[in-house]
Amino acid sequence: MRRIMVPAAALAASAMLAAVAGCTGGGTAGDARISATDRKEAHEIFQARCATCHGQFGRGDGPGAVALNPKPQNYADAAWQAKVTDAEIEKAIVYGGASVGKSPQMVPNPDLEVKPGVVAALREKVRSFGEQ
Ligand code: HEC
Repeated sequence: MRRIMVPAAALAASAMLAAVAGCTGGGTAGDARISATDRKEAHEIFQARCATCHGQFGRGDGPGAVALNPKPQNYADAAWQAKVTDAEIEKAIVYGGASVGKSPQMVPNPDLEVKPGVVAALREKVRSFGEQ
């Protein structure tokens, strides 16, 4: 019994460490927590909800951006990409701009609170626009 319990505990501990590292680490490509289904759903959500304001290519120039001040974040802005953390991006997506001290016109997506993989995939997508 004990011989089984010990490795199980060690495994759980290292899985937790990996999860913590995944939340704070800079590396986004190939994030193991994100499944193919998460990426597909994130892509659909981006087209349906985010592109209206942020634009098809994440430049902050969607049709809904015209009336907004401040403008939706341009994801290609290298200075913004360098200073924003993964945690802030994910928080802004789920709880809205106001939750991170930004414009409340960045709307919350409370339905995604229970879908951390999809939120991570959206964050990965936001990061990918900065790499073009
Ligand atoms: C109604 C328009 C609108 C929609 C829809 C929208 N956003 Fe935004 N978003 C904004 C605005 C405006 C800002 C800029 C806030 C500021 O600079 O104060 C912003 C900022 C952001 C930021 C930067 C937050 C930060 O801390 O710098 C991220 C990331 C973001 N949006 C992601 C998304 C994603 C992903 C979606 C779709 C799930 C989305 N947004 C949908 C308007 C929108």
